[in-house]
Amino acid sequence: MIEKLNRRDFIRAGAAAGLTAAVPQALLGQAPAVIAPKSARPVVISSANGNVFKNGGDVTGVQKAFGMITQGSDVLDAVVAGVNILELDPQEDSVGYGGLPNAEGVVQLDSSCMHGPRRQAGGVASLEGVRTPSLVAKAVLEQTDHHLLVGKGAQEFARNLGFKIEDDLNTEKSRRLWLDWKRRVDPSHYLDPRKRAEAGHQAALQMVREGLIRQEHLWGTINCDGVNAKGEICGVTTTSGLSWKIPGRVGDSPILGAGLYVDGEIGAAGSTGRGEANLYNLSSFLIVEAMRRGAHPKDAGMEALKRVVANTVEKRLLNDRGRPAFDLNFYILNKRGEYAGVSMYASHYAVCTEKGPETLPTEAMFEGKA
Ligand code: GLY
Repeated sequence: MIEKLNRRDFIRAGAAAGLTAAVPQALLGQAPAVIAPKSARPVVISSANGNVFKNGGDVTGVQKAFGMITQGSDVLDAVVAGVNILELDPQEDSVGYGGLPNAEGVVQLDSSCMHGPRRQAGGVASLEGVRTPSLVAKAVLEQTDHHLLVGKGAQEFARNLGFKIEDDLNTEKSRRLWLDWKRRVDPSHYLDPRKRAEAGHQAALQMVREGLIRQEHLWGTINCDGVNAKGEICGVTTTSGLSWKIPGRVGDSPILGAGLYVDGEIGAAGSTGRGEANLYNLSSFLIVEAMRRGAHPKDAGMEALKRVVANTVEKRLLNDRGRPAFDLNFYILNKRGEYAGVSMYASHYAVCTEKGPETLPTEAMFEGKA
């Protein structure tokens, strides 16, 4: 059963519980709405790959997370265990081990996680040599006073905690694809860095057209969010980022409010697709704030997509219909277990409930393809 409390109800409820004397009025003013479920429907939602890869086991990522949640595990432990399946699966070339590398052939990984009830967050960016960046992000959340560690520092942190550091996270497949891409790009012709980056992107798109890599794996990622029967909500996002990126490029995935945002009183939102669009608009934060104002997850997601469309004005980012020439997807879950997958163009998302795992079509902003 759910109650939505407005500010007056919130103060009244607090007064009944003897709380208002301890809570300054200014702070109460910052919490205009609280979704207060007495019980919630356990749900796990993720990008579509969360219901594809099993790493040789019996269950997909969303199944693993849902099973753990319903057996009483902490929700963050559960969603991270879910995405670990994909990070470790060599066939999944958009996250973790075997993720498509950067322009120099080096796999650099980004991840973040947030724990709603504990109000804790952690992330890593440009991390090399660790197959499961989500576990390092969780260690940042649990064992430091910080929210984000990057590059060598993140790797040293992981090494000190006993994570195995490997020289190279490429698989035969990811290295073969990188070599194919490299052959198509001749940097000596493009001394202007913008032209060089554009040539690299065009070569990647050509590889998509030739069926060598999947369009959604250009910015391949998994976001996974879960809620348990007590309404406790947590989320994680992990990725190898944009394929063939400039070394050091960090996308939206490890940035709180961009690739992931969780408010323990409201809900969670996370993203896959063009990270730069999210970094500019902080879409996951925008979505959670819309839910705080009472929006359903689907409407909150559409609001964020409209903002992205309004802020996409550079010609190079628009297709011949004047619309964004990129994919962007949001996975959204509120505290009562209502959820939505929304996207710029037709796509899919995964969900696991008491009915089992499902792959469903997203609510798309535009018909056709980017
Ligand atoms: N959304 C993943 C990235 O852009 O890195």
